[in-house]
Amino acid sequence: MISIEKVTKLYGKNKVLDDVSFEIGGGEFVSIVGTSGAGKTTLIHAMIGAEEVDGGMINVDQYNVARLSRSKIQEYRRQIGIIFQDYKLLPKKTVFENVAFALEVAGYGKSFIQRRTVDVLKLVGLEEQRNHFPRQLSGGERQRTAIARALVHAPQLLFADEPTGNLDPDNALALAKLFLKINKEGTTVILATHNKDIVNAINKRVITLDKGKLVSDKEHSTYQ
Ligand SMILES: Nc1ncnc2c1ncn2[C@@H]1O[C@H](COP(=O)(O)OP(=O)(O)O)[C@@H](O)[C@H]1O
Ligand SMILES: [Mg+2]
Repeated sequence: MISIEKVTKLYGKNKVLDDVSFEIGGGEFVSIVGTSGAGKTTLIHAMIGAEEVDGGMINVDQYNVARLSRSKIQEYRRQIGIIFQDYKLLPKKTVFENVAFALEVAGYGKSFIQRRTVDVLKLVGLEEQRNHFPRQLSGGERQRTAIARALVHAPQLLFADEPTGNLDPDNALALAKLFLKINKEGTTVILATHNKDIVNAINKRVITLDKGKLVSDKEHSTYQ
């Protein structure tokens, strides 16, 4: 599904990704870990086509992500789900409307949007808050709304960059469990984080970056 081959990225003379290679199969759950500045975000950005690389290959399904034209990048982005640390919810839309929005833009019919949005709000445990506005939600609920939004178009592949960054430990752990549930239902999950507790709770494959280099890649691993 994903093949990263000898990827290198420079900011000036600073090599922030240095000859990074790995493969991820469909249905896997992979945590990408490392201290702040290790290159996690840069790697996620490269994989979602948000950042150009200076060398190497990034293939996701049929997409040669490092060489995509603008219009192809748009097409590729519609196939994947992306979650960041800051939720960027639309403040004047309700939870339901925030999640349904992507489907409306894509031109789906009203009854499909209704059904699919309710299903995904159930998945993240927010059906009761569907008519709340973002300011009426807790941090954990806002992040779960962002997750519902990222999942509403049923992507096979979900990228999350420090999704627990603004959450307290209990909410972070609840989010880890939600990612496991999403993965169990078939979605490939790639989670970049420096949060050791959640990586250890997840106990799946762990790729460790250090100063832009891949220094370990282990199944059922922890992050000490
Ligand atoms: N736009 C940029 N310009 C210059 N340097 C950058 C830029 N973005 C990130 N960096 C540098 O790249 C390195 C890796 O950053 P990043 O990928 O954000 O690490 P992480 O997500 O693991 O904390 C850091 O040294 C950071 O300062
Ligand atoms: Mg980062």
